[in-house]
Amino acid sequence: MKDRAIQKGQRPTANDQRPFGFSTRAIHTGQEPDTETGAVTVPIYATSTYVQQEIGKHKGYEYARVSNPTRDRLEKNLASLEGGTASRVFASGMAAINAICTMYKSGDHVVCGDNLYGGVPRLFNQILTGYGFEFTYVDTSDARKVERAIRKSTRMVYVETPTNPLMTISDLATISKICRSKNVDLVVDNTFMSPYFQQPIVLGADMVVHSTTKFLNGHSDGLGGVVVCTKPEQSEQLGFVQKAAGAILSPFECWLVLRGVKTLAVRMEQHDKNGRAVAEFLSKHKKVKKVFYPGLADHPQHELAKTQMSGFGSMITFETGSLANANKMLRKVQVCSLGESLGGVETLISHPATMTHAALGEEGRKAIGITDGMVRISVGIENLDDLIADLDQALSAI
Ligand SMILES: Cc1ncc(COP(=O)(O)O)c(C=O)c1O
Repeated sequence: MKDRAIQKGQRPTANDQRPFGFSTRAIHTGQEPDTETGAVTVPIYATSTYVQQEIGKHKGYEYARVSNPTRDRLEKNLASLEGGTASRVFASGMAAINAICTMYKSGDHVVCGDNLYGGVPRLFNQILTGYGFEFTYVDTSDARKVERAIRKSTRMVYVETPTNPLMTISDLATISKICRSKNVDLVVDNTFMSPYFQQPIVLGADMVVHSTTKFLNGHSDGLGGVVVCTKPEQSEQLGFVQKAAGAILSPFECWLVLRGVKTLAVRMEQHDKNGRAVAEFLSKHKKVKKVFYPGLADHPQHELAKTQMSGFGSMITFETGSLANANKMLRKVQVCSLGESLGGVETLISHPATMTHAALGEEGRKAIGITDGMVRISVGIENLDDLIADLDQALSAI
């Protein structure tokens, strides 16, 4: 792996982990042909247990909660794509985030972004505070605020970049330097960018988390989560969490992700191409009041985005002005599908205030700037003309 102390202004790309390029690793690492049959596709080992030769003698597999060959293959693949030493997969993105939290203890303090996916503060505030964890929410796009919020008891800084749904960017190289100087772990949710466009470990992250439900799987047909590790003790601890707590990813869903990642690079290129064009279209549309997309020159962290990411992706939020306007347009979409989630080949459009960020409550949303008129779009890889025509006709309802 390349030197992780990358200099500011240097953009880490998905090909930094040599000797093989990103797509080659996506298609072949962990995806080697089956040694027994020669099957080019990783088999789905649908088994709950494994036969043992004698007491204490087996082929490395005892019980499927502890380990499964299909899961091992996926964990190897995703570790390679993110440039980590190992990875552990869980039943959902939230299960992966919860597993990370079990690595810490009551009394530990976490500094985290104030504009995370809504399910994360729900886990933190409504479950983990009851176990003695403490959380401070700051705008992580200002690294000084992260530094100021760190206390003696801080063990983790948890960052999403770009954020959901406001698309603010946090400077991972600077935050990682702060975390290192204070002996605090930096955990980055890389769901929106995928390892194809953003390499947090190269920028200094200690662990990377994904909802594999999104771009990694890419076909909106399975839930999943992964934690990519940079140290053997992290993967050992998380392996123990898999065994002890049991929220593992099923062999079938591991296989779906293995199949999905084979096309990650080409999908991300097309997502990015369509995303840029849709953002441009929306930014010029008279019914749209504001567009939040890091690829636009007027985005406050556009310059940082250009150095930290190798593409801008396809997540866009825009302001329609009111809940009534948002509803009028969302009722009219035909090619885009109104629904939660993101990162699939199909374009999904959603309303953060009543969907992904409903759990924050009105006050919580207002505090960070999520309005009732905001609409979030995960631009898919359909024909661009069809997407633009659909959004245009839907916006004409406002
Ligand atoms: C950025 C981000 N992180 C984590 C999650 C949680 O993942 P899952 O729904 O797979 O539990 C989501 C879900 O939308 C997300 O958008």
